[in-house]
Amino acid sequence: MTRTQVGIVGAGPAGLLLSHLLHLAGISSVVVEARSRSYVEERIRAGVLEQATADLLVETGVGERMAREGLLHHGIELRFAGASHRIDLSRLTGGQAVTVYGQHEVVKDLIAKRLADGGTIVFEAADVSVHGIDTGATRIRYTTDGQAQEIACDFLAGCDGFHGICRPTIPEGVLTAYERVYPFAWLGILAKAPPASEELIYAHHDNGFALLSMRSPDISRLYLQCEPDEDLKAWSDERIWDELETRLADRHGFALTRGEIFQRGVTAMRSFVVEPMQYGRLFLTGDAAHIVPPTGAKGMNLAVSDVRVLARALETYYRRHDAGGLERYSAMCLRRIWKVQRFSWWMTSLLHRFADHSPFDVRRQIAELDYVTSSEAAAKTLAENYVGLPMEEA
Ligand code: FAD
Ligand code: DHB
Repeated sequence: MTRTQVGIVGAGPAGLLLSHLLHLAGISSVVVEARSRSYVEERIRAGVLEQATADLLVETGVGERMAREGLLHHGIELRFAGASHRIDLSRLTGGQAVTVYGQHEVVKDLIAKRLADGGTIVFEAADVSVHGIDTGATRIRYTTDGQAQEIACDFLAGCDGFHGICRPTIPEGVLTAYERVYPFAWLGILAKAPPASEELIYAHHDNGFALLSMRSPDISRLYLQCEPDEDLKAWSDERIWDELETRLADRHGFALTRGEIFQRGVTAMRSFVVEPMQYGRLFLTGDAAHIVPPTGAKGMNLAVSDVRVLARALETYYRRHDAGGLERYSAMCLRRIWKVQRFSWWMTSLLHRFADHSPFDVRRQIAELDYVTSSEAAAKTLAENYVGLPMEEA
């Protein structure tokens, strides 16, 4: 049996960053991950880091490659009724910006740093389970190569995503779940094609939402609103490009640079929160506790803000034998989470076509987009949420 102070389930951004921050605070941890290292390092997901997320990575010594290869964006475009409108994020937020850098690159950087610092990450752990969350005999059990393994720890961090095992371990009746499932999804692609715009374009169109994003000067990342059960086989490369071009069109003949599509997938959209985010010695972070629809690019950033609060609370506990931060963990995180839920829901509602929309609803969306892009106050509200609301301080 291994002993550590904090047992962490899941090597996504939340689990890895928590392990890194705890190490910097002199607290030991072991990360147990169901998948292989290459799987988690290649899993394509989010791509926009809030200002505070990027700052945290730099301040804690894992932001060097991000600072070199990430793309700093000072604005975004909202495109509707055939015209583009720029939201000047930096001017509206006193100089803040976002960094476009793939989530899997953050994961690669964190894994490399943990291993270089002598950290333990168990990949390909099977049958992972957690025990003793309300007794004090807290354990993670799993098997590797058919051998049963056990880790004893003071605390457990459930960083195992929406489909993980930690949240369901909490006894029935403790958690309240709040949920909204959206009647559409995103078809996302990565293509070997220079992005047709320097900044992200969020487009409202009669055919549905589209988003132009990127990963590098040579790689485009694009999304199309689609059905939740969309059949990818029905989408040839040409159909995808044609539809993206239709939805992203403007009055000035905007054209996409096309190239080989080398990754594609459909992402379901939901809003989900459980309260509280803690039970006994188990603390839930990131997607294990909440999901946002991707429109505001907030999923990974929320995971980072949870972890920051949890790492500080654990540090206070071990340094000063003060459990106050741990007791406040859930309430502190939820305050920010609900504001980010609101923003993600709002961006989603503003930009997508809903099946039951009447012509009135579409006019109302256009009016709201017009307002957001012409009122300084409204643009500022969008900008301060997009670059990221302040992190909660303990
Ligand atoms: P995760 O990244 O999900 O990490 C959880 C980890 O736990 C995984 O490595 C998983 O393998 C592991 N795990 C699960 N079960 C077990 C178990 N039983 N035992 C051990 N380990 C386990 N956000 C955006 O902002 N923009 C996007 O475009 C976007 N696209 C997304 C696409 C998809 C398909 C998904 C699922 C999410 C997307 N998100 C997006 C959301 C964003 O990626 C997440 O919010 C972010 O990954 C949360 O990080 P996390 O560490 O909490 O969870
Ligand atoms: C990306 C994803 C988002 O959800 C978003 O709002 C902006 C960009 C991306 O993957 O690049």
